[in-house]
Amino acid sequence: MKFTLTIPVLLISAHSAAAWGTLGHETVAFIAQNFVCDDTKIFFSSILNDSSTEYLAKVATWADSYRYTAAGSFSAPFHFIDAEDNPPASCGVKYARDCGAKGCVVGAIQNYTSQLLDSSLDKATINMAAKFVGDIHQPLHDEGLAVGGNTIPVNFSGVVTNLHHIWDTNMPEKLVGGYSLDDARRWANILTTEIRRGAFAHQAASWLKGIDITDPVSTSLHWARETNAFVCTTVLPDGQDAVANQELSGDYYEAAVPVIQLQIARAGYRLARWLDLIAVGVRTEL
Ligand SMILES: *[C@@H]1O[C@H](CO)[C@@H](O)[C@H](O)[C@H]1NC(C)=O
Ligand SMILES: *[C@@H]1O[C@H](CO)[C@@H](O)[C@H](O)[C@H]1NC(C)=O
Ligand SMILES: *[C@@H]1O[C@H](CO)[C@@H](O)[C@H](O)[C@H]1NC(C)=O
Repeated sequence: MKFTLTIPVLLISAHSAAAWGTLGHETVAFIAQNFVCDDTKIFFSSILNDSSTEYLAKVATWADSYRYTAAGSFSAPFHFIDAEDNPPASCGVKYARDCGAKGCVVGAIQNYTSQLLDSSLDKATINMAAKFVGDIHQPLHDEGLAVGGNTIPVNFSGVVTNLHHIWDTNMPEKLVGGYSLDDARRWANILTTEIRRGAFAHQAASWLKGIDITDPVSTSLHWARETNAFVCTTVLPDGQDAVANQELSGDYYEAAVPVIQLQIARAGYRLARWLDLIAVGVRTEL
């Protein structure tokens, strides 16, 4: 009994810092799968030795527990950039100020992109690169206040948790109604339709503006700044005291949903283009 109680607690706490949770990461990967070029799909399926319809989604969360091991702990800071801004009065990300000495998500995207372009095309590197593109689109991964909201206690559907965790996990899972691979596929297909011919059709092209595989820092800093702006408008519009110890599964959740949908869609669409550019870049060098 003790054993079965311990395992879920460990999983939940590992989950809490893993960004977007499993559901979010797998959804981003499925959206990317829907948009990559045919050549990119062949390229990555072959490297991953996986010709299934889940070749990227399965790798998206493969190394989730890696950062909690002694060997992987160095990668923990790579999932976020702690903007030292002042929400809700002012938001903003500055690379020199906010990327700590131990690294950050912007530097990590640069690192892992150049590793992929140098033909270090292994499962672990693909996993990391895909994950960091997802993470940078979660507003509280681009915020230093209260450790990205981790120290702001909140209630969600009667459960005591923290603000960071509800953005990673509780709110996406409430929206979708589950967290299985099939839930992720279903959500990804809904967002893919919105991108192709729905609510996002007119803006999707603008999401790729400025994307430059030779300049991953500028590219991902743009993504971080755009995402961090939601901390002022949607995550903490009235400051942290307004949400601390409050039940957030009502109006707060309703206001967050459009941002979550947009950010997951953007992350997947951008990841597709990023993988296309990596695949083309590697092939050109070979
Ligand atoms: C690739 O996958 C197949 C089927 O799962 C497996 O039999 C094979 O050993 C794998 N090859 C490599 C190089 O991992
Ligand atoms: C880049 O990768 C190296 C080696 O893994 C690591 O030491 C460094 O901190 C990383 N830099 C950033 C900014 O993430
Ligand atoms: C938050 O949850 C705790 C523990 O269940 C409860 O005592 C408290 O009243 C809840 N607060 C709100 C605002 O719902």
